[in-house]
Amino acid sequence: MDLLELARAELLRSNADRKHPFRLMYISTFGEYPEVRTVVKRRISPDLKLTFFTDSRSPKVAQIRNNPKVAALFYHPKKKLQIRLYGHAQLIDEGHGDFNRYLQSVKESSALKDYTTLQAPGLPLSAGTEANALFGDEVHFIAIEIDPEKLDILQLGRESHNRSLYQQIAGEWQEQPLVP
Ligand SMILES: Cc1cc2nc3c(=O)[nH]c(=O)nc-3n(C[C@H](O)[C@H](O)[C@H](O)COP(=O)(O)O)c2cc1C
Repeated sequence: MDLLELARAELLRSNADRKHPFRLMYISTFGEYPEVRTVVKRRISPDLKLTFFTDSRSPKVAQIRNNPKVAALFYHPKKKLQIRLYGHAQLIDEGHGDFNRYLQSVKESSALKDYTTLQAPGLPLSAGTEANALFGDEVHFIAIEIDPEKLDILQLGRESHNRSLYQQIAGEWQEQPLVP
């Protein structure tokens, strides 16, 4: 099977299968150093647009405002399949058409508390702060959508490895096989 179709099939499967390794992804942004962190992939569409949720005060949001170019990494250990997706991140905050739908899904999942810390994520924790005194009433939720522009897909095999670069040109994915 074509590597892009294999990758797409696994990514779409992860929308429904809660144990799928592609439920988590590693997102990198430009900061003082290259920054990378684990996030939960909330959804991927058939045209490979990714969505994840975060705290609007978190450093990754400021980094994306500065430079919206991001990379997402996925690895499927059983299939020995690595996907490196490069694209443009868009911040979906209040005022965007999809914002309320995303916020509603968080409210229904009881994860809303994750977006209500009194202080911004990543700030030093004041000495003696009780865990339950960390939260306030204000919700700092934001969704981030990633539009894919380039994919580097690698599958390791027993006898040989396969790797291809896919780039979107005029709405079509063009394949360039690469030396693995
Ligand atoms: C398993 C796991 C899942 C996570 N999921 C998310 C997530 O969906 N959204 C998020 O903002 N942070 C998530 N985090 C925390 C991030 O890895 C990171 O620590 C946090 O978002 C701060 O990142 P930043 O300082 O680069 O903005 C997750 C961490 C782990 C270990």
